[in-house]
Amino acid sequence: MCGIVGYIGERNCIPILINGLKRLEYRGYDSAGIGIVDDDSCLIVKNKGKVSLLEDKLESLDLKSSIGLGHTRWATHGIPNEINAHPHSNEDNSIFLIHNGIIENYQVLKKGLMGFGYKFLSETDSEVLVHLIDSFTKRGHNLTKSVQLALHEVEGTYGLAVISSKEPDKIIAARKGSPLVVGIGENENFLASDVSAIIAHTKQIIYLEDGEIAVIKKDEFTAKTIYDNAIEKEVHEISMTLEEIDRGGYAHFMLKEIMEQPESLRNSIRGRIIQSEGDVVLGGLTDVVEKLANSKRIIITACGTSWHAGLVGEYMLEQFCRIPTEVEYASEFRYRNPIIEKDDAIFFISQSGETADTLAALREAKMKGALVLGICNAVGSSIARETNAGVYTHAGPEIGVASTKAFTAQMTVLLLMCLFLASSKGELSKKQMQDILSELDGIPEKIEKALKTNEEIKKIALKLKDAENFIYLGRGYGFPLALEGALKLKEISYIHAEGCPAGEMKHGPIALVDENMPVVFIANKGNSYEKLISNMMEVKARKGIIIALITEGDTHVKEIADFVIEIPETLDVLMPFVASIPLQLLAYHIALLRGCDIDKPRNLAKSVTVE
Ligand code: G6P
Repeated sequence: MCGIVGYIGERNCIPILINGLKRLEYRGYDSAGIGIVDDDSCLIVKNKGKVSLLEDKLESLDLKSSIGLGHTRWATHGIPNEINAHPHSNEDNSIFLIHNGIIENYQVLKKGLMGFGYKFLSETDSEVLVHLIDSFTKRGHNLTKSVQLALHEVEGTYGLAVISSKEPDKIIAARKGSPLVVGIGENENFLASDVSAIIAHTKQIIYLEDGEIAVIKKDEFTAKTIYDNAIEKEVHEISMTLEEIDRGGYAHFMLKEIMEQPESLRNSIRGRIIQSEGDVVLGGLTDVVEKLANSKRIIITACGTSWHAGLVGEYMLEQFCRIPTEVEYASEFRYRNPIIEKDDAIFFISQSGETADTLAALREAKMKGALVLGICNAVGSSIARETNAGVYTHAGPEIGVASTKAFTAQMTVLLLMCLFLASSKGELSKKQMQDILSELDGIPEKIEKALKTNEEIKKIALKLKDAENFIYLGRGYGFPLALEGALKLKEISYIHAEGCPAGEMKHGPIALVDENMPVVFIANKGNSYEKLISNMMEVKARKGIIIALITEGDTHVKEIADFVIEIPETLDVLMPFVASIPLQLLAYHIALLRGCDIDKPRNLAKSVTVE
């Protein structure tokens, strides 16, 4: 992970870098730094902690420069402190560098460089890069060539940027495995890990690909491979606006994103349903529809919340398409030599489209000849570009580290893909399609209703905020949701929480139940309602505190549970769309009452670009 931003032009780069870093903090926030060229020499300022602390430090220094780089770190090698923060520089301080990724052979390279007298200050893998580049400049190569030659020796992943005070007219950037975009302005150019960092300045974007190196001057951009072959790059005009990525009056991005869900869901559905025909239109799948319909098996691969959406997808695909479906953690799938057949279709779900494990799994599957499809939120992201085809979730930028609106959007797209497939395979009649689509169309209003539980949930949160553990239970579509509810709570409140199929409780988790244990039941009226009530009684018999998400008007559960949250009735398959809302709100309010940093929970990052 880590966030990278760079500027070269005629303006003072400091505010541009700081504002860019603030937008990239979702990628890591344990330390931050900037490097500039000032009076023909390099100057680096860095700090442990968030970008705001770096900003305070810079204010007192009153620096100015028209070229610079900024970095916000998520530690992999070396603890979060000022020395390990980026930029890293060479010994005479004429070259500095920022890096996102992991240099896997850094110890070998470090040993070699130390043999030549190089001294290392930090514990990071990244520092090796700046000394390696320095060693090539000392052999007479210019900066561009030195970066190319250094990268020939590097194993691992990188999105990196380098500046030399001896060639202060350019930034050199290179990418392998970690995202980088170049923004084209007038008499100024930008560099960033993603467009959100530079959207305030330009909408003209160039996506760098693996193995490419960019030479960025204030009025010129060139790209080549690290083996010096010239490349023509396409400039993309992006549509994202600054308002879309601002907090819009909410205390936290997470709350804003929870509240946005009626609208984000409408955006995920927009233009994709022909209600009268009972039809789903997914332009992104047109070229692969036949291959997809003939798939013997579907594998869904993802991480974190996206993996939970994948589980919901498995239930949908098996229910409506009758295609055997498996859901895999990308980090496991990639390294266990999975059996992939030519007639497998593999879905890769990723909000960011940059998660390293998911991307690596995608490359493995592609190499083995499967049809690879993406479900991504970030337009133009690596996974979106490398899959054969796919469908965007269109949830809009998600900034809060705990994923909310991306989750409901992923489930929406999975359902649309599932219905698209079911109808092309003839598994669902026109009438069945119409019924599901009409209910889906009404889900944004049901989410609006579910959002009204906010005040009730605040009261419940106040009663439960000091709990040390939580259990979440559900059956059928409620099971993935139990996992997701527990994940939300632990991510932002640091309360230990476990999600489990309600039927499995008796095989272990029930041993944890006593009068201090809150147990959240996804207890809507659906397929397994009666069985779930039995599980609830088992918890009650052991004095557990029961919080139940129930279907509006259900009086039966009200008599059993300590707290109930009512949600509108809908089809079983659509229940997770509505029931997600109170689970997200419950986690939010508990974390708020515990004084946690909701949008930047400790140790986490939004986009995990390391394996
Ligand atoms: C990180 C984030 C999670 C996210 C997961 C997968 O762990 O903190 O919120 O679900 O990565 O991210 P992706 O972008 O691939 O959906």
